[in-house]
Amino acid sequence: MCGIFGYVGKQGNAAEIVFDGLKLLEYRGYDSWGVSVKQGKKLLVDKHVGKIGNSHLNSQLSTFNSQLAIGHTRWATHGGVTVNNAHPHLDCSSTIAVMHNGIVENFEVLKTELIKKGHKFISQTDTEVIPHLVEEFLKKEGLASSVRDAFNQLKGLNAVVVAYAVSKEIIAAKTGSPLVMGVGKNELFVASDASAIVNHTKKVIFLEDNRMVILGDRLKLIRLPDGKEIKPRFQTLDWKFEDTKKGKYRHFLLKEIYEQPHVIKNIVFNYKQEAQKLAGLIKKAFGTFMLGCGTASYAALAGTYLFSRIAKKHVNFSIGSEFNYLEDYLTKQSLLIPISQSGETIDIVEPVEKAKKKGATIAAIVNVLGSTLYRQADYKILLGAGVEKAVVGTKSFIAMISVLLLTAYTLAKKEDLGKRLLLKASQDLKKVLGNIFVENLKKIAGELKNKEHIYIIGRGLSYATALEATLKIKETSYMHAEGFAGGELKHGVIALIERGTPCIVFAPNDETHDDIISNAQEVKARGGFIIGIGPRNNKVFERFLKTDDIGDATIIPQVVISQLLAYYLALAKGIKDPDKPRNLAKSVTVK
Ligand code: F6R
Repeated sequence: MCGIFGYVGKQGNAAEIVFDGLKLLEYRGYDSWGVSVKQGKKLLVDKHVGKIGNSHLNSQLSTFNSQLAIGHTRWATHGGVTVNNAHPHLDCSSTIAVMHNGIVENFEVLKTELIKKGHKFISQTDTEVIPHLVEEFLKKEGLASSVRDAFNQLKGLNAVVVAYAVSKEIIAAKTGSPLVMGVGKNELFVASDASAIVNHTKKVIFLEDNRMVILGDRLKLIRLPDGKEIKPRFQTLDWKFEDTKKGKYRHFLLKEIYEQPHVIKNIVFNYKQEAQKLAGLIKKAFGTFMLGCGTASYAALAGTYLFSRIAKKHVNFSIGSEFNYLEDYLTKQSLLIPISQSGETIDIVEPVEKAKKKGATIAAIVNVLGSTLYRQADYKILLGAGVEKAVVGTKSFIAMISVLLLTAYTLAKKEDLGKRLLLKASQDLKKVLGNIFVENLKKIAGELKNKEHIYIIGRGLSYATALEATLKIKETSYMHAEGFAGGELKHGVIALIERGTPCIVFAPNDETHDDIISNAQEVKARGGFIIGIGPRNNKVFERFLKTDDIGDATIIPQVVISQLLAYYLALAKGIKDPDKPRNLAKSVTVK
């Protein structure tokens, strides 16, 4: 949710470095973008509405030797999508520029006080109070203490980067939203996400909450509450720059879908210890709860079925934003398994913090090293899915499912079977991703693209994946899709079926098969157009997409087929950039 990038260094093209960095962060928000560059004792500013995509930086900012610049790509919270509301926000003298990620919860109170003191506001954002606050403090102290004092007045979870026209330093501070520092040769970086700086350096510091950092001739790390300097702890990124590029693919979404066989294999061959550790924690716990939001919540829901079926173990599940209201029963014996690609989702981070206070053990399954959730957790399982750039989650979901499946089989002392199934799933995906299969999917996408609704049904494990398939179609193609448990249809939903209404039916070779086929018959009898996905064709299917029979791992090809269908539906509907669906952001750091 909003991307921040800052640079101080000797390369002489700070403006371009920041501009390129923002392009890599654009998936975090793409309502507007802006850059501020220091030229002599002035700050130049360039702001635009819309995606940074193929835009150009104003040549005034890029054609001189620049050594300090900051940038921002916005996902709007307070104030509409306008140039005035785009970042940076400036103080009255236009010498202080601020880029911000988060929400200043007390901005109205602060704004009223600042207006009384004569400050002029030109935007509707909460952010604009920050430069004016810094301006106030600068009347009596230096830049670093002014930023610290200003930041300490803000309520909420925030990250800021501040530049000052007469200073060679930029200052970053955070209480909640992510910030990572990169240390290069004679240059320092700050960004909302390590994937934006990995092409410059792999030596990074993930900034803890309540810290401030001064980037100048050297890097100085400071504790926000008392202003004490502390020693930074460096980490080395294991990501490759190529991971942040589309390569031969038209979109990141497609690239990431095609990376999934490899993601599964990595888990099969390298996650023995992780699965054993997690299985041991579940065995010992008195109550285990999995948490996730959106796609990760469907992975968690699938997890409850997997642990029940395979390991005969009851593992609870809740969506992250609701767990706040459910966790009163947690004790020191409880185990919480938060699942998150970004590790920054506030609806996960917040209940986890609360659970920690109650003494529960936290075993996080997360894709991003150094993320907030990663740091919160007592035990961490990194998903190893690599950088996921498309806003729509794909390979991280498959990695989550693979880790949960392997853990369930490990808990049942059938680890080898779990590995075999996953390897078969990774093999089957090669077929699903092959030309013949994809051409067939494109045809089906063409048949569905003008339908008003698409319904998707499944039972058991396939109910969880029906929900995930639905989400992929909604966010990628903007078509209305709904997922249901097959058995629920007759309790009301069936009223929605009309002649020609498409209904995708997940029919694996498990105990749900016959009942879901009956549900498909019920839909067909009311005019529904049935698309079956599973190992066995059936008369009821008008269209059929075959998966191998891979036991519990059959859900993997089910989901990958849905991801591809969603992608080709988007293309069939003329959606230009399925990597960045409207209104969404990759990392949701606000409530
Ligand atoms: C959907 C999608 C979102 C995320 C959700 C949680 O394709 O990507 O629903 O799954 O916002 O994000 P993480 O996993 O980063 O916590």
